[in-house]
Amino acid sequence: RNICILGVPMDLGQGRRGVDMGPSAIRYAQVKERLGKLGYDVQDLGDIPVPSIEERTANELNLKCLNEVVQVNQVLAERVSEIVGGGRFPLVLGGDHSIAIGTIAGVAKHVQRLGVIWYDAHGDLNTGETSPSGNIHGMSLAVSLGIGHEKLTGIGGYAPKIRPENVVIIGARQLDEGEKLLIREIGLKVYTMHEVDRLGMTRVMEEAISHVTQGTDGVHLSLDLDGLDPHDAPGVGTPVTGGLTYRESHLAMEMLAEAEIITSAEFVEVNPILDHSNKTAKVAVAFMGSLFGEKLL
Ligand code: ARG
Ligand code: MN
Ligand code: MN
Ligand code: MN
Repeated sequence: RNICILGVPMDLGQGRRGVDMGPSAIRYAQVKERLGKLGYDVQDLGDIPVPSIEERTANELNLKCLNEVVQVNQVLAERVSEIVGGGRFPLVLGGDHSIAIGTIAGVAKHVQRLGVIWYDAHGDLNTGETSPSGNIHGMSLAVSLGIGHEKLTGIGGYAPKIRPENVVIIGARQLDEGEKLLIREIGLKVYTMHEVDRLGMTRVMEEAISHVTQGTDGVHLSLDLDGLDPHDAPGVGTPVTGGLTYRESHLAMEMLAEAEIITSAEFVEVNPILDHSNKTAKVAVAFMGSLFGEKLL
């Protein structure tokens, strides 16, 4: 099996400096070596160019850096599409979560129906109209569902990329009012921290796996490190207390590996400037190990 690593040093989808260093931090945590040891042929394709925050054009419509975010995601969609078209597994390293727009656009081109596991403290279901921040990283799931500004939803040349019934959010604990309304309106499956506490991660993952595999022919994992508790993943731009633990997350990755359902993945929001000794990137790489089948014995 062939894995292609693609870095996206994107920081224009949010407001804090440092998340553009996420891909380097994850490489420094030895992602290539870790997956190579599992017997994969791992190719690092390097980074996609991202304009610096100083080069950005004027904002419009409560969508910060809209044109630059569109441009980077357009390129990302093409690169990911080439990887999938070549029969390889795309492993995308962020960068802020706005890059899910491009990753999903590139992957969904190749499958009839793509399932998505959105592992996150947030829903990322805002639009320019509902967003309290104007940050596009808080809109990427909505955009992939075809909801939002058409410059964003049209990335890759088609919309929508995914359908609400094929998506599951795990770890949610901070949702804006507009996001809550949208979740009810489109009937999105959400395992908030309440359900994780109540049912336990084993049951949550069993249900989530059965949900996203229903009628789909591929499943994308979009893992925002802020889904974890800030104690275990401190290097993120929008930490929210009371999150998923390191152990629960390893279990989730192991269950995904056993189910053999994941066909593409991205790990986003690693911000080494806000981190302690690259802890969050190391955690991300450990999860990638489990996701790709690493076992102690
Ligand atoms: N809901 C907030 C917003 O829209 C926070 C989004 C955080 N998203 C993320 N990918 N970390 O601004
Ligand atoms: Mn930058
Ligand atoms: Mn988040
Ligand atoms: Mn997110």
